[in-house]
Amino acid sequence: MLIRASFLPLLGLCAAAASSSGSAGASSSLPAPTASEFASGSGAPAAATPVTSAAPTASATLIPTVVSSPGALAVTTGVIASSLGYSSLVPVVPYTFSPFPVPSQPAAPNAFPAVDPSKPPPPGSTLIPNFQPAWSAAWAKAKKKVEKFSLEEKISVATGTGWENGRCLGDIPPIEPVNGRGWPGLCLEDSPLGVRNADYVTGFPAAINAAATWNRTLIRERGLYIGREHRGKGVNFALGPMTNMGRIAQGGRNWEGFGADPFLSGESTYETVLGMQESGVGATVKHLVGNEQEYKRTQETSDIDDRTMHEIYAHPFLRSVMAGVTSMMCSYNLVNNTYACENDKVMNDIIKREYGFQGFIMSDWQATHSTISPITGLDMSMPGDIVFNSGTTYFGSNLTSYVQNSTIPESRIDDMAIRIIASWYFLHQDSPSYPSVNFDAFKTDSEETNEHIDVQADHYKLVRTMGAASTVLLKNTNNALPLKSSLRSLVIIGSDGGPGRTGPNAFVDQGGDVGVLAMGWGSGTANFTYLSNPLDAIQARARQSRTSVNWLLDDWDVARAGNLARKKGAAIVFINSDSGEQYITVDGNQGDRNNLTAWHNGDNLVLAVAAQNNNTIVVAHSVGPLILEPWIDHPNVTALLWAGLPGEEAGNSIADVLFGDFNPSGRLPYTIAKDLADYSAQRIIGGRSQDIIAIPYTEGLEIDYRHFDAKNITPRYEFGFGLSYTAFGYSNLKITKLPSTDRAQSNLISAWEDGKASPIVAGSSSALWLHRPAYQVTFSLRNTGKVAGGEIPQLYLNFPPSANEPPNILKGFTDVLLKPGESETVTIYLSRYDLSIWDVVKQGWVRPSGSIGVSVGASSRDLRLKGKIPS
Ligand SMILES: *[C@@H]1O[C@H](CO)[C@@H](O)[C@H](O)[C@H]1NC(C)=O
Ligand SMILES: *[C@@H]1O[C@H](CO)[C@@H](O)[C@H](O)[C@H]1NC(C)=O
Ligand SMILES: *[C@@H]1O[C@H](CO)[C@@H](O)[C@H](O)[C@H]1NC(C)=O
Ligand SMILES: *[C@@H]1O[C@H](CO)[C@@H](O)[C@H](O)[C@H]1NC(C)=O
Ligand SMILES: *[C@@H]1O[C@H](CO)[C@@H](O)[C@H](O)[C@H]1NC(C)=O
Ligand SMILES: *[C@@H]1O[C@H](CO)[C@@H](O)[C@H](O)[C@H]1NC(C)=O
Ligand SMILES: *[C@@H]1O[C@H](CO)[C@@H](O)[C@H](O)[C@H]1NC(C)=O
Ligand SMILES: *[C@@H]1O[C@H](CO)[C@@H](O)[C@H](O)[C@H]1NC(C)=O
Repeated sequence: MLIRASFLPLLGLCAAAASSSGSAGASSSLPAPTASEFASGSGAPAAATPVTSAAPTASATLIPTVVSSPGALAVTTGVIASSLGYSSLVPVVPYTFSPFPVPSQPAAPNAFPAVDPSKPPPPGSTLIPNFQPAWSAAWAKAKKKVEKFSLEEKISVATGTGWENGRCLGDIPPIEPVNGRGWPGLCLEDSPLGVRNADYVTGFPAAINAAATWNRTLIRERGLYIGREHRGKGVNFALGPMTNMGRIAQGGRNWEGFGADPFLSGESTYETVLGMQESGVGATVKHLVGNEQEYKRTQETSDIDDRTMHEIYAHPFLRSVMAGVTSMMCSYNLVNNTYACENDKVMNDIIKREYGFQGFIMSDWQATHSTISPITGLDMSMPGDIVFNSGTTYFGSNLTSYVQNSTIPESRIDDMAIRIIASWYFLHQDSPSYPSVNFDAFKTDSEETNEHIDVQADHYKLVRTMGAASTVLLKNTNNALPLKSSLRSLVIIGSDGGPGRTGPNAFVDQGGDVGVLAMGWGSGTANFTYLSNPLDAIQARARQSRTSVNWLLDDWDVARAGNLARKKGAAIVFINSDSGEQYITVDGNQGDRNNLTAWHNGDNLVLAVAAQNNNTIVVAHSVGPLILEPWIDHPNVTALLWAGLPGEEAGNSIADVLFGDFNPSGRLPYTIAKDLADYSAQRIIGGRSQDIIAIPYTEGLEIDYRHFDAKNITPRYEFGFGLSYTAFGYSNLKITKLPSTDRAQSNLISAWEDGKASPIVAGSSSALWLHRPAYQVTFSLRNTGKVAGGEIPQLYLNFPPSANEPPNILKGFTDVLLKPGESETVTIYLSRYDLSIWDVVKQGWVRPSGSIGVSVGASSRDLRLKGKIPS
C-alpha cells in the first residue's frame, strides 16, 4: 500500500508532513520536524548524505520503452520486451475466468475438518482446515444478494470511492437499502502491524519480529489481536499481512514481511491470517507478487521463472489460501513485463485456478492500469480513482461501457461482486453486532467522525512478550548476558537507547529515526499510543539490584561516550538502522536502504565505547541485516542482541532479555552477511524517469541462506541462528512414513510416489493429499544447561542432485520450552508438498528421483542430526 505513486512528483517527508492532500494522517496543522533535521542525531554536523548509493548495486537493464499513458496495458513495444517473445496483450476474447466452486475435496474428519474462520484449529495443529463448506455457504448468500443488484451496483461493489473520499484508506460505497437489497459497503484500512490513522491502538511488533520468534502460538495471537483492533474500529478488510520475501537485504519494506525464507514466511502468513480472520476482520495478503524493492517499484518488471515463482515467491500466498484468506492485493510492479494487477498468469492461473482462491484481489493504491484488468483477474480497484483525486476511474462507468458492448462478459462482473460480498459473509460481517466505522483516516482531528474508541485491551502483554521472544542473541562471550545482580554499574550509550525527544509520533507515518526504533516507516505503520524506551525500562529494572545507571543519548560525542564507559561494569550501546516505503525519504534513503551500516554514527560509537570498556554489549534495532564487521570480533564487545522492530514495549522487552527475565529464543529470519556483495541479489537502480527497468531474478531458488550454502560463502550469522542462556542437546532421530488413510485420493498418492506430477486441475496445489502429514520425524531434545529456555528445532531437507535445489531447505520448525535437565520427544511432520519440487513442464508438484535427506538442528548451519526419507 502506498500513498504517492511515482508518476506524481516525489515529495520527501517535509512536504508530506506539510501538505494536507497527499498523505494520510497529515491533517494536523502542526509542522512535523523534518527528517533531515533529526536523522543524523543532535549535534551532528549537517551531514547531508548524498542520495547516491554507497552500496554495490547492479545497474539497470533498460527496456527502451515508455508507458505511454497510465492506461497502457503493459510494455507493448521495445526491443527487450519483444525479443523475450512475450505477448503483452491480455487475451480478451474468448475469456474464461476461474469457475466457482473449486471442486470440493472429500471430507476427512481427523485430517480435514469443516472449519469456520471464527474457530480455526489451534496453532501447530496437524489438522488442515477445510473452509470449503463455509465458502460455499457464503457464496450462496452472496449470489442471492448480487442477483438483485443492477449492473452499475455490481460494478460499484468493485470500485473504490476514490482517494480521501471516505473515512477509511479505501472505501466501497453502500448499496441503498431498497426492497431488501441493501448492503453497507466496506472499509479497507492499513496496516500489517496495527490500525493505521487511528488513536488508542496498539503498536505491535513488525512482522519481521513475529517471524523471528519462530513461535506459531505467538504469531497467531498477534494476528488475532491485530484483527480485533481493526474490527473494533469498524474495519472490514485490514491491509495485511505482507509476505514479500526480502530478496534484497536493502529492500525498504522487508520489515513489513516475514523474512527471507518461503517456508518461514508461509507459516507466519498462515498463522497471521487464521488469527486475524478469527476476529471477523478480513486479511489482505500482499503484495502479489515480486514487489521486492522500493526503487522504481511502479516501473520495474520482476522477471521470475515459473519454478522460482512457485517454490519461493508465491508459496506464502498458497498458505494464505489454505488459511481461508479473503483478499489479496496485487502489487505496483510488473511481472514478466505485464503489470501485476493485469497479470493473467499470476491472478487467474496461479492464485484462482491452481490455489483455488475464492476471495477477491484488489489493486494496490493506484496500481490498476486499465478497464480490461478484470479479465486478467483483478476484482477490485483501489482506491478507485486512476490517480488520487482525479475523479476518473478505470472501473465504474468505464467498466459498465465495456460490459454493455460485450468486451467483458457480465458473468465476470457477477464473479467479482460475488467474490467480494461472499468474503464479507464468510467472515460473518453481515451480523448486526459487527462494528461500524468509528474513526476517520484522513481527518484525525475531526470530532464528528472520530469516536476515539480504545481497542487496545491488554495487547501490550503480547507485545512485551513478543518483543523479548523476537530478540536474537547473536554473541555472548563468557556469559556476559544476562546481567548479573552483582553488577554495580552500567551505562547506556546511543540515541536508540532513549525516547525520541519530540515524542513517538513526531513524523508522519514514522518517517524519521529519533530515539528507540520500534517500527520502520511508511503505510505499514501505526501511531504509538505510548512507547516504552530502553533507558526507562533498564533504570526501573536495575533498581532491583541497586545498580548505578548512567547514560549518554548523543551519538556523535564519541569521546564523551568512551569516557563515560570507563570503569563501568557494563556499557550497553544502542544502534539502529531504518527503512520504509518509497514515498518518504529519510536521510537520503528513499524507502530502500542505501547501505547496510548502522545509522547515526553507530559503528564509531561502538568502537569508542569498546576501546574503554571490556564488557561492551550492543543492542541493534534494525529493519534488516547490518554489516557488523567493523567491531563484531572486538574482544571487548562481549554481547550482541538483535532486537529488530519490537513495537510499543521496546524498552521493557529488551530489559527483560538483558536481565534474564526472558531467556532469548529468537532466531534470525534472514542471513547477516560479512559483506553486502555476498548476498545473491542486489538492488537495481538507474533508468530515466519514464523507463521501466528489468529485474531478472537470475539467482532463482538461491536467495538468502540457500545462496550462501550453494556457493559456500561463510556468513557472519546464518539464517536460523540464535543463542540462548542455556544449551540444548539433540539425539535419536527417527523418520517414518505414515500409513495412508486417504482411500479417495490413493491413486494420486501412488502416482506421486512413482514420480508423477500432480495433475492440472482447479485447486491442484492446495489439495489435501498433497498437504496432509505423510512422514513423521521425531527426535529427542534436552535442556543441558542451567536455566529454563526455549529452543527452535529446525528441519532442513537435502534434495538429491536430480532436484537441482540448494543444499538445505527449511521445511519444518517448532518451539519447545524446557526446564534444566528436562527432555522431550519432538515431532515434525512433512507433507508430500514439502517433499516436492515444481515441474515446469508438467505444471505440477513432483517428488524428485533419488534419496531425500533430512537434517535437524539449531540453525541452517548447525545441523545436529541427519537421516533420510524412507522410500
Ligand atoms: C515469466 O517468464 C518465465 C520465463 O519464461 C516463465 O517461466 C514464467 O512462467 C513467467 N511467469 C509469469 C507470471 O508470466
Ligand atoms: C475511463 O478511462 C479512461 C482511460 O482509459 C480515462 O481517461 C477516463 O477518464 C475514464 N472515464 C471515467 C468516467 O472515469
Ligand atoms: C467498448 O467500449 C469501450 C469504452 O467506450 C471502448 O473503449 C471499446 O473500444 C469498446 N469495444 C468494442 C468492442 O466496441
Ligand atoms: C498520528 O501522528 C501524526 C503525526 O505524526 C498525526 O499527524 C496524526 O494526527 C496522528 N493520528 C492520529 C489518529 O492521532
Ligand atoms: C574488565 O575490566 C575490569 C575493570 O574495569 C576488570 O576488573 C576485569 O578484570 C576486566 N575483565 C577482563 C575479562 O579483562
Ligand atoms: C549509511 O546510511 C546511513 C543512513 O542514511 C548513514 O547514516 C550512514 O552514514 C551511511 N553509511 C555510509 C558508510 O555511507
Ligand atoms: C578493552 O577494554 C579495556 C578497558 O577495560 C582497555 O584497556 C582495552 O584497551 C580494550 N581493548 C581494546 C582492544 O580496545
Ligand atoms: C511460544 O509461545 C507460547 C505462548 O506465549 C508459549 O507458551 C511457548 O512456551 C513459546 N515457546 C517457547 C519455545 O518459548
